[in-house]
Amino acid sequence: MCGIIGYVGNKQAYPVLINGLYRLEYRGYDSAGVAIMNEEENELFLYKSQGKVSQLDAKITGKKTAGTIGIAHTRWATHGEPNDINAHPHSSQSGDLVIIHNGIIENYIPLKKELIGRGYSFKSDTDTEVLIQLIEDIQLNENLDLFEAVRSALNQVIGAYAILVFSRSNPDTLIAARKSSPLVIGKKMGEYFIASDPTPIVEYTKDVVYLNDEEIAIIKRNQDLRIKTIRNKDKTPYFEKLEMSLSALEKGGYDHFMLKEIFEQPHSVSNCMRGRLDPRKGSISLGGISDYLQKMTNADRILIIACGTSWHAGLVGEYLFEDLARIPVEVEYASEFRYRNPVISENDIVIVISQSGETADSLAAIKLAKSKGATIIGICNVVGSSISRASHAGSYTHAGPEIGVASTKAFTAQVTILTMMALLIGRKKGTITRSKYFQYIHELNQIPKKIKHVLKSNDDIWKIAENYKNTRNFLYLGRGYNFPVALEGALKLKEISYIHAEGYPAAEMKHGPIALIDEEMPVVVIATNKGTYEKVITNIMEVKARKGKIIAIITKGDETVKELADYYIEIPETEEFLVPLLATIPLQLLSYHMAILRGCNVDQPRNLAKSVTVE
Ligand code: F6R
Repeated sequence: MCGIIGYVGNKQAYPVLINGLYRLEYRGYDSAGVAIMNEEENELFLYKSQGKVSQLDAKITGKKTAGTIGIAHTRWATHGEPNDINAHPHSSQSGDLVIIHNGIIENYIPLKKELIGRGYSFKSDTDTEVLIQLIEDIQLNENLDLFEAVRSALNQVIGAYAILVFSRSNPDTLIAARKSSPLVIGKKMGEYFIASDPTPIVEYTKDVVYLNDEEIAIIKRNQDLRIKTIRNKDKTPYFEKLEMSLSALEKGGYDHFMLKEIFEQPHSVSNCMRGRLDPRKGSISLGGISDYLQKMTNADRILIIACGTSWHAGLVGEYLFEDLARIPVEVEYASEFRYRNPVISENDIVIVISQSGETADSLAAIKLAKSKGATIIGICNVVGSSISRASHAGSYTHAGPEIGVASTKAFTAQVTILTMMALLIGRKKGTITRSKYFQYIHELNQIPKKIKHVLKSNDDIWKIAENYKNTRNFLYLGRGYNFPVALEGALKLKEISYIHAEGYPAAEMKHGPIALIDEEMPVVVIATNKGTYEKVITNIMEVKARKGKIIAIITKGDETVKELADYYIEIPETEEFLVPLLATIPLQLLSYHMAILRGCNVDQPRNLAKSVTVE
């Protein structure tokens, strides 16, 4: 939530900053701003605009932008409505200091009152402006340099922050700090690039340092990077090499990132299995969890914690671990778990799933579970992210950067990791026989090919979307492994097309939602299950008896449901526990086409942001 970027070096800052904002826009897009210092003319250029980065870009066209140090921000509003005034950067009272911020300063109200009492006035409704005024107040009263003033201010604030600050009077230095919101610093010769994530940095350098919580970086042009903690302890910067290609950040000929990411799934699922699944030997190895595999195998229960789409992947995980490894699983919303006083013990395995690895609620849940002695296994997509670093062990999904705000390829990669974990543990525990293990591994290895096959239905799915584009409500039904698929299908539709949709376990329909069904109501039924196939057919009949319309996801060649359905999409036959990896794909495409046909911005749906770093 909110993207921040800064530059200090020997080249012009503006192109780095504006390109960086475009790359970071998926993190928030209700307003944007940029501040650049022109040392020669001793002039600060500060531009802000409500709306998208393109609006800011257009506003700046033809205006002065020369300068080699600057900061820029794209916002997802928390405090104060999205308008020009509340957009970042914010300046201090004297105009000497400027700041951008991602996070929330929770105690900003008492701090603001105190500052008003001392004669400060505020232009915006933001918590961020309070922080920059506080830094200036400390600097002036205590005659401190900028680093010391920032450090002192951060010791007074409660909340989450990733900040970048600089001073007009010392335009060689950027001060960066983080707590609970991510920040990464890239270095190339004498110049530095600082951002919320590596996507705006990778085109300039692959050498990066991830700041840790409560660390402050002093970033000076042509000098070594210095890092200290907010308690003033020196830290040695640890540079890592980014493994990210620039092409992964481009649309690559597709109209939207979401479509590109849906079509990347044969590749992203393969990538997730590469070097881990060996169908010839019939083996799975997950290096990242090898030290904890025995503990996972012996676990009395597993807790899976996540939010949104990752939570749906966790629900598939529940079915997988219970079915294949016979371990009881509880799946928790991170936001509920963290405030519920949950019962956790040292024997518990807690699997935390997160695409971004930065979700604030999931991070807080980790802290809570860790404090009770549980073992944390992270499943993250973003390498080096906070959740991956806060976990004891884990597996990256290796799906590549996911830019579309609606999660697609991250979901299938998360389910692939969970499948490999459940198979591995099941085999180790003896709940899967050697021959079944071979058979399952072979079939998992076929999934990327089968996803490719499902993607061929794209045109047919467009026709279904065309027919239902003006519908106001949708119901999604599935049983067993396909219940989480129904939930995920409904979430995808509502978040990008703004159509109300609900996912339900198919048999639960008769306990309430059946009242909604009439000739206006399309019902998407995932009717592939072997175990409960006849029961799902009964559910379809119940919908039809009330004139509801059936869009069915069926196993290839299933003539029975074909005849019952108004529309159907076929997916190839596979093992029941692997069906979510195929059945989710047509539902992603259905929501994509519905949203496009309704004129929605699929990559940046309203009110959403990719990385939810506030609670
Ligand atoms: C939906 C979506 C969100 C995220 C959720 C968790 O398409 O993207 O529901 O799944 O915000 O995010 P991560 O996985 O980054 O923790």
